[in-house]
Amino acid sequence: MYNVSCNDAVKIEATCFDVLIIGSGAAGLTAALRLAESKKVAVLAKGSLSEGATAWAQGGIAAVLEPGDSFEDHIRDTMVAGGGLNSRATVEFVVENAPAAIDRLAKLGVPFNMGGPVNEFGEDWHLTREGGHSHRRIVHVDDATGWAVQQALEKAAAANPNITLIPDRVAIDLILGRHQARFSTSGRIHGVYALDRKSGKVETFTARATILATGGAGRTYLYSTAPRGATGDGIAMAWRAGCRVSNMEMMQFHPTCLYNLEVKNFLITEAVRGEGGILKNPKSGHRYMPDYDERAELAPRDVVARANDAEIKRDGLDYVHLDISHKPPEFVKGHFPNIYEKLIGLGIDITKGPIPVVPAQHYTCGGVLVNLDGRTDAPGLYAAGEVTQSGLHGANRLASNSLLECFVFGDACANHILAHWDRLPPPPAIRPWDESRVTDSDEEVVIAQCWREIRNFMWNFVGIVRTTKRLERAQHRIDLLRREVEEYYGSFRVTADLIELRNLVEVADLIIRSALHRKESRGLHYNTDFPNLATEAIDTILVP
Ligand code: FAD
Ligand code: SIN
Repeated sequence: MYNVSCNDAVKIEATCFDVLIIGSGAAGLTAALRLAESKKVAVLAKGSLSEGATAWAQGGIAAVLEPGDSFEDHIRDTMVAGGGLNSRATVEFVVENAPAAIDRLAKLGVPFNMGGPVNEFGEDWHLTREGGHSHRRIVHVDDATGWAVQQALEKAAAANPNITLIPDRVAIDLILGRHQARFSTSGRIHGVYALDRKSGKVETFTARATILATGGAGRTYLYSTAPRGATGDGIAMAWRAGCRVSNMEMMQFHPTCLYNLEVKNFLITEAVRGEGGILKNPKSGHRYMPDYDERAELAPRDVVARANDAEIKRDGLDYVHLDISHKPPEFVKGHFPNIYEKLIGLGIDITKGPIPVVPAQHYTCGGVLVNLDGRTDAPGLYAAGEVTQSGLHGANRLASNSLLECFVFGDACANHILAHWDRLPPPPAIRPWDESRVTDSDEEVVIAQCWREIRNFMWNFVGIVRTTKRLERAQHRIDLLRREVEEYYGSFRVTADLIELRNLVEVADLIIRSALHRKESRGLHYNTDFPNLATEAIDTILVP
């Protein structure tokens, strides 16, 4: 942190940087490393730096690197999975920038698996395969790619004198003109107010440009593979600051989350199916995916998740079986060492028998609307990664395209900021956070209760298969909860849980409203009252 007051005319405490980044995952740290070539950057994380989804990614990163593969094939696969709702310009932008992004990561020291066929550049990436991809296209570090990527990015950021990493700060709201010492309606974003979890104080962070890289909103759902902090904070903050939000009904459910009474959200990577794993009904032993789709286990995720859901509901099952035990044990352990170890610890030997799996929320395809430079509707505010709707994923994300999006858009935000630096005004004096009218809460139980309620009804009423009646029930409940949470928020000092709950309510409302708005079934949004595809693919765009 390099100074305490951005504007000497009015002495108001603020910590001021050139650029402020909220989020220390793949998107945030990619932007930070590029910006730090010439700017002072702060990166905030709401817990430890590695707590986002990035560190949890298993499968890998999609890029055209196999001999015989082409950009056109990757673009086509992305748009087929996305149900035609993707923006072709964005898909081209991301796919064509993928090999360079992988190259940057390799140079940072990410130890990708090698030993595959040699391509035209003399490289021998080991590429795995996942659903919806017509080629082997996934670069990976065994079955723990995200952890390796997160460590490499963090190490590089920590070693950079222009980057200040600030964990344990929960961003509450973006700073707008109305928070200036001299009130303004400019709509420009000047930074964030953030809670220091340790001291309980709310601090003011200002900058010429702010990048939201806060990840997704998976924890709106009872069952999710996403980390605890995926509460849609960035989406809710941007929405409250006046930015449009798009395609929030497109919630991706992963078909194969481990079913275990102790371990609730352990993912079994899609690469298990890519390497020959098959899905079976545990009651009949029948391999059912060919009955649902000619691509069988390698159909896109929405298709496989719905098939698993249908088998479970029809036969009253707790789970279905994913089986790769027909492959040689050395092959299974070699490809999936972390999954093997984890499951052995739970008494499941995947070289000898099947894995019990269920579908669970996995990825937020919708989010804050951005253009190809990562710019949002608010001047001075950028966004990258899972928090955004960039046009890449459309109605359903193709496996392993999301880390890729983080690297390409993290870089794009940074490039735009650097290229337009002279047009970004220094932040004005900002009023400090006002706690004069609130007290400490005497009813924390309300927060835990509301969390549980939201996650339950979102799972039951706004899940894999929807009906208009159930969506209306969810809308009714969220309206009631919103009033309660607003009253609570207006009366008590903020805590991390309260900040997250306020955002969960906001995001759940956006998901429900978007789902009610879409009068068709496309990609991840499946409503039995509107089972057909509309003739035109149109984004759902909510305007604050
Ligand atoms: P994240 O990595 O989630 O980081 C979010 C950051 O924002 C964190 O640092 C968090 O602390 C911070 N933050 C959030 N709210 C606040 C706040 N209020 N204040 C301050 N900081 C805040 N994708 C792939 O492409 N390939 C895969 O193999 C793959 N596997 C996956 C496996 C699992 C189990 C999961 C859950 C996801 C997987 N994904 C995969 C998806 C991918 O991991 C994520 O989409 C991606 O990592 C998101 O990166 P991000 O930088 O946008 O956000
Ligand atoms: C997985 O490994 O199955 C997850 C890949 C992804 O989410 O893209």
